[in-house]
Amino acid sequence: MINPKVETALNEQIKKEEHSSRLYLSMAIWCEVNGYPGAAAFLYDHTDEERLHQMKFVHYLNDRGGKSVLFALEQPEGDYESLKDVFEQVLEHEEYITESINNLYGLTVEEKEYTTGNFLQWYITEQIEEESLMRTILDKISLVGNDKSGMFHIDKELETMATNKETAA
Ligand code: FEO
Repeated sequence: MINPKVETALNEQIKKEEHSSRLYLSMAIWCEVNGYPGAAAFLYDHTDEERLHQMKFVHYLNDRGGKSVLFALEQPEGDYESLKDVFEQVLEHEEYITESINNLYGLTVEEKEYTTGNFLQWYITEQIEEESLMRTILDKISLVGNDKSGMFHIDKELETMATNKETAA
């Protein structure tokens, strides 16, 4: 049986991953209606990815003899100032998730829940990749500033990134 403290923390993480999915969905919607179809495709894609993160936790917890619980979620912000603002908030959110995964890992060490610690390794690696990707995108957006053609190219690039991911999957 899984340690009850770890079970509670895993359920909190399930909530956070589900919230991430909805947060990126609201950002994708904003991008789509504000003339950034590429960024929208990228974020729609990311919405699905967060759902997969959530489901991976759900199955793990149930398989370990625990029970996944769903919580009420707060409504995500629907308005953003700019594409830069969107990706600043994405990065900030990913940093928050990384911290949460790290704390969860710390708890598994404290509670000697080594199986869960091992399971979390995948998330630890994933968070390094996600943060690095979002930082790269944000650097590019910062570099072009208000240049419309630069922004157009970034949007195209995001669209290609989304398409490549779908092809790879
Ligand atoms: Fe589930 Fe983007 O971290």
